[in-house]
Amino acid sequence: MQGESTISSITTQSAHISRVWGLIPVFIAAAYPLFLQGFHSVISTSGKDEISFTTTAIILLGAAFIVPIFGLIFAMKGPDFANTRRLAYMVVTTPALYTLLGTLQGMAQSPIPDELIWYVLWFSFGILVILNAKEIKNKPSDPEFTAYWKVIHGLSATLVSIFILFHMANHFFSLKGADTYNAVMELGEKVYRNPFVEPILVIFFFFQILTGIQLMWRWSTRSVPFYQSFQVASGIYLAVFLLSHLNAVFIYARIYLNIPSDFAFASGAPTGIIHDSWNIRLFPYYTLGVFFALCHLMTGIRTVALVKYKSHRSAIDRVWTVMILVSGIASGIIIAGMSGLRI
Ligand code: HEM
Repeated sequence: MQGESTISSITTQSAHISRVWGLIPVFIAAAYPLFLQGFHSVISTSGKDEISFTTTAIILLGAAFIVPIFGLIFAMKGPDFANTRRLAYMVVTTPALYTLLGTLQGMAQSPIPDELIWYVLWFSFGILVILNAKEIKNKPSDPEFTAYWKVIHGLSATLVSIFILFHMANHFFSLKGADTYNAVMELGEKVYRNPFVEPILVIFFFFQILTGIQLMWRWSTRSVPFYQSFQVASGIYLAVFLLSHLNAVFIYARIYLNIPSDFAFASGAPTGIIHDSWNIRLFPYYTLGVFFALCHLMTGIRTVALVKYKSHRSAIDRVWTVMILVSGIASGIIIAGMSGLRI
């Protein structure tokens, strides 16, 4: 009897340790603004040829990218609790959440610094996770339920992908400068800003977010193989990215500021993305927006391909790897163009 109670006390203790260990992502996410501030202060003070300043700036900007990557790794390898895993997936959305917060703060003309709200937000998430400690481990998913939502989510994705691919192609023209970018955008606008098309497009994007959240809510509690985890992580990033992006375009630019949502707006003109203390948050935000949008699509296509051609798994995985590399290169080129690189 005594042995049993000792075992149960050890189990309870180790569960407590796991829960506390599961809070590490909170500290990592909370530190995110510090990396961006550090980058900004380094590039504001450095002279052009100082290698050590450049290296420090690159490390700090790199650290901002490590935050969401850490979230993904923690969601896969961290403690096996539903709430800590969901928290880790939330950490993946850090760049999008911080941009959304900054825009909402700007619109509310809030005198409270973004960083303060950010710390309160993350530590509240952490406390919620500790208080919600009784949550069951590894909730099973209902395969019929997820299959149903997966089909619906996939079908509407086909439609929004047409817009996304044009939109991404449009961003490549940033390498040619604002005029070319805006000219291509105006061409596209004839279709996607048509009064009949635009509401349908926006409804489809919201539908995509809602069905994605349905799926994510089921999958995010479970320990799943890498591909599913990556699909969930890229999906949750996109959900927050789209909320932030649609708010910035439709409400902040077009209604609140009453300015065109053109290249100047998107690239934070006149200071640009790199040299402004607020705009620097757009760098990881856009890069991962493009990267995850393409990866989410590619990983979805991989799943469909595997259902049809199960025996060709290794070939399908090779194509997937190439497509992820291509997505990385595409997002790198786009952010370089949006940040001022011209060819
Ligand atoms: C480098 C990254 C990105 C930048 C700089 C960017 C910029 C913009 C700009 C300037 C607009 C306004 C277009 C206009 O007024 O015609 C816009 C609209 C929009 N973007 Fe993006 N975008 C990016 C990535 C994405 C991604 C990854 C998605 C989807 C996953 C997306 C979805 C949308 C949607 C749905 C609209 C609204 C279209 C409409 O006006 O009806 N964007 N974006």
